[in-house]
Amino acid sequence: MKNRLENKGFKLESIDWIHYGFKIRNSPLNLGSTHEYLQGLYYIQSVAPMLPSLILDPKPNDVVIDMCAAPGGKATHLAQIMNNQGNLILIERNIKRISALEINLRRMGISNSIVINEDAVNLSKMNLKANKILLDAPCTGEGLIRQDPSRKRSKTIKDIKKLSQIQKKLLNSGLASLNPGGQLLYSTCSIAPEENELVLDDVLKDNSEFSIVKMPGNYGIEGLTEFNGKTLREDIKFSQRLYPHLHNTIGFFISLIEKIK
Ligand SMILES: C[S@@+](CC[C@H](N)C(=O)[O-])C[C@H]1O[C@@H](n2cnc3c(N)ncnc32)[C@H](O)[C@@H]1O
Repeated sequence: MKNRLENKGFKLESIDWIHYGFKIRNSPLNLGSTHEYLQGLYYIQSVAPMLPSLILDPKPNDVVIDMCAAPGGKATHLAQIMNNQGNLILIERNIKRISALEINLRRMGISNSIVINEDAVNLSKMNLKANKILLDAPCTGEGLIRQDPSRKRSKTIKDIKKLSQIQKKLLNSGLASLNPGGQLLYSTCSIAPEENELVLDDVLKDNSEFSIVKMPGNYGIEGLTEFNGKTLREDIKFSQRLYPHLHNTIGFFISLIEKIK
């Protein structure tokens, strides 16, 4: 794929931590209309959103749930890591976003997945248990302000409060659907503590059934363990925050939670 794009004049730069991911430095054509794209040889996304699936690292025989799947950047990446085997259950509440998800799955030849149009808050009532769960939660998108400055004004404290309630409900439901020893990766493209550390702290409280575990690499800086005078669970420091000015990515947050056996 790399050679084919380079032969067409694209300039690809390697990314240290993912041997099959590249930054595009020069595009003579629209990257979304090449034969290679239409043949499903790659997905276009920014760098930080490649982390959640990579860190969750499902195995080919796992049962994996992506609770907020459309348009499928992380879902197609999960399927790639699973070698298109096992069971990949993709939930998406918004029916209007499902066609984009299905198009991406078909384009990339994913055959180990099913799509469920449902509110993932109801996951815990669906009688499904998984070894690995991805919760790429709906958020204010604060981390995208560098690309889209209008987000500075389009989202307010009210949005943060509303979304953090939804994030807590989704996280509670996801954790209840984990098998013992299983892992849930929580991510957002927001850097607001209210959508990240405070969500984890509120849901996990002093629950010793779950622990936030260290990730296999350092991609950003530690999660906050203190905010606004409040001390948070200590293991939240194993979460990682990525910032545009420090890491040259979108603002992003990731945390890996394990259900103790
Ligand atoms: C951040 S986007 C997910 C991006 C996706 N993971 C990817 O990598 O392409 C969040 C998605 O969650 C969906 N969503 C929001 N609330 C939901 C809920 N309660 N249950 C399921 N999906 C939900 C939104 O419609 C949106 O498609």
